[in-house]
Amino acid sequence: MLRTHHCNQLREENQKEHVVLCGWVFHRRDHGGIIFVDLRDHYGITQIVFDPEIAPQAHKLAERVRSEWVLKVTGFVRSRGKDLTNPNLDTGAIEIVAEKLEILNQSKTPPFEIGSEVQNENIRLEYRYLDLRREKMQKNLQLRHKMTKTIRDFFDQKDFLEIETPILIKGTPEGSREFLVPNRIHHGKFYVLPQSPQQLKQLLVLSGIDKYFQIARCFRDEDLRGDRQPEFTQFEIEMAFPEQDDILKIMEECFVNLTEKCAPQKKYKKFLKNGKIKKITWQEAMEKYGSDKPDIRFGLEFINISKEAKTSGFGIFEKSKHVFALSVPKNLGEFSRKDIEDLTSVAQSHGAGGLAWIRKGEDSGPVAKNSTPEFLSSLFEKTGANDGDIVFFGAGEFHKSVEPLGQVRLEIGKRIGLQNPDEFAYLWIIDFPLFEQKEDGSMGACHHPFTSPKAEDFALLKTEPLKVRSNAYDLVLNGSELGGGSVRIHDPKLQHEIFEILGMKEKEIQLKFGHLLKAFEYGVPPHGGIAMGLDRTVMLFADEPNIREVIAFPKNQSGQDLMLGAPSTMPEKEIEEQNIQILDIDEK
Ligand code: AMO
Repeated sequence: MLRTHHCNQLREENQKEHVVLCGWVFHRRDHGGIIFVDLRDHYGITQIVFDPEIAPQAHKLAERVRSEWVLKVTGFVRSRGKDLTNPNLDTGAIEIVAEKLEILNQSKTPPFEIGSEVQNENIRLEYRYLDLRREKMQKNLQLRHKMTKTIRDFFDQKDFLEIETPILIKGTPEGSREFLVPNRIHHGKFYVLPQSPQQLKQLLVLSGIDKYFQIARCFRDEDLRGDRQPEFTQFEIEMAFPEQDDILKIMEECFVNLTEKCAPQKKYKKFLKNGKIKKITWQEAMEKYGSDKPDIRFGLEFINISKEAKTSGFGIFEKSKHVFALSVPKNLGEFSRKDIEDLTSVAQSHGAGGLAWIRKGEDSGPVAKNSTPEFLSSLFEKTGANDGDIVFFGAGEFHKSVEPLGQVRLEIGKRIGLQNPDEFAYLWIIDFPLFEQKEDGSMGACHHPFTSPKAEDFALLKTEPLKVRSNAYDLVLNGSELGGGSVRIHDPKLQHEIFEILGMKEKEIQLKFGHLLKAFEYGVPPHGGIAMGLDRTVMLFADEPNIREVIAFPKNQSGQDLMLGAPSTMPEKEIEEQNIQILDIDEK
């Protein structure tokens, strides 16, 4: 090594030792003759002193150095003494008195200061190599490494076999749009990048692998949000012959181990029930919290008042199939007209017509003015509301009655500080519906088409498929979906039937899934698994607001890599070789 120590290594007991340090100039201060340089590397910072009396040549050279220059400093360790110790630095008790300085490299003035917060994310991403030099980003990458290793070691100890699956595959329709890769040899044909290794891991279990594990790259061409990237990483498993609870148990153990090792400061035990992560059904989650990924760090659960609302006297409620109430005690927060308007906008932006409300003891607002006294008294009794407490309502078809109110609940939780950042509230959501109706009225798989229906709901497959529940589950943490999985279909006939319910004709089934159905003819074991978003998990463990903060080289909000300049145009010759012709927008 060019150095004897790194920049977070030397302490008081190293006094008088001769050392060599290498790193970047973090700060440089010229104190009337003596020059101080904070030298930074991956590990930390050490103060270097250039004194003209001690090393005139090194001092002269140090006059030239600027931020982010790369230096090699030879010198000796000196104690700073109690009064001058810098408590903010691990090496704050000492400094290096330079005897020799070598400038290993110079730097242009960086577009932002490495030590400061940078607001413009596009600049950060364009100069990601500078952005990553910041202490917080180095820590995030360290944490990601530690978490990945903890997860890998855990599954290794549990006898899971880590197996890589290919990236250039055939389309595996799972719900998202796929990235296509054109082909030079096979004219007009495409590879597809995997949305997840879903079918491949099922095929591995069919191949006799008992417990499969992978830290897998996945690709989805979908609209980006704070917790989504077009390419991301999952850690995922598949097992032969499990029951649903075996899969939940192993993933639960993995997360307890991960939390203990990588986020020991987080309080998660208070949310466990009999020492286990609580399980609630999808139906219960929707009815209580208006979300399939509820944040249960706080209560504010809905009360179902659909029955009472039928004779409430208030027209909108009487006409609505479902009515839910969310009561917020006065001591948690008082709501001004402006607050109520803001919350109404939240409800409206999630599909509600408006946000009905009533404050106990006041007769302002349409609900108070139009409802019968009997309805109001049963409402206040059921919700337990006291004088001054405010009750918000969601009404309409099931999803419309609960989902906007769920967003209102979250906004209230945020506004009155109910989401404690020191807490980790894990939650299993089970018994998801098997199907969902898409906007165009067609039928879609709620998870993916390989999820098995609950045996007791088989009869509904033909008559009321939307009522069929599945053996699917999600793990939720503080209102974020960490991951999900299912016990799979292992009966080729049932798998075929599900494809048909999803509206596929025989030709399409064979084209898209012929390979899977073919394999299923050779003795497929009952199997199941789960996949967790690694980036999302690290994001929550690192207390970061979006996953870009825990990915070394992420895409920006419009899916571009601003550092590399991707996506980019390609030389015409290479495009032709791929048998591709680029049309002008007009021609298209
Ligand atoms: P699913 O599609 O629910 O399941 O994905 C599992 C988890 O992957 C993460 N995730 C993402 N993370 C970042 N960016 C994205 N665009 C993105 N999309 C998904 C989420 C999500 O919960 N094959 C099934 C799993 C199975 O059944 O075993 C699957 O992929 O954290």
